[in-house]
Amino acid sequence: MFERFNTPEEIFTYKLGSALSMERQLVDLLDRLEKCTLREEIRHPLAVHREETLQHVANIEHCFKLLDEPVDDSPCGVIEALANESKTMIKKSDDSLPDVLILAVASEAEHYEIAVYETLIANADARRGATAVAKLLRENLAQDKHALTIARTLMKTILEQGIAVDASA
Ligand SMILES: [Fe+2]
Ligand SMILES: [Fe+2]
Repeated sequence: MFERFNTPEEIFTYKLGSALSMERQLVDLLDRLEKCTLREEIRHPLAVHREETLQHVANIEHCFKLLDEPVDDSPCGVIEALANESKTMIKKSDDSLPDVLILAVASEAEHYEIAVYETLIANADARRGATAVAKLLRENLAQDKHALTIARTLMKTILEQGIAVDASA
């Protein structure tokens, strides 16, 4: 954790550490969403993306190794806030309605991840000797973009079919 930033490289390291916290928090969030959903067609893609997210964590840890820097533990307040908001909203909502909230938080999280990776990749591309780092970050970005496409498609489907599910069935 930095007290003060003195170089652009330190800012990059901070943002990379924050992305690592983001992915670690998302493993837990996806696990919780997977347990809350009422639809199998939502549970499966959440489980698949949780596995991918574990790989995203490993890829970022590998980036620190490639940069020959200690793993930074900068926090990620955005995913923490999203996770807290979704927990409160799911608790408050009728038992038949969690899926629309689950897909909303999944989609919002992927949008944030995409923005984080686009910035990190632009920085890595401009940094000498960081080609392998940029490649790993691009792998994460591609899977997060795909997860967003799936969340969008599922949202469209349940909005067309009817959001509520008989939770007592
Ligand atoms: Fe990710
Ligand atoms: Fe993701």
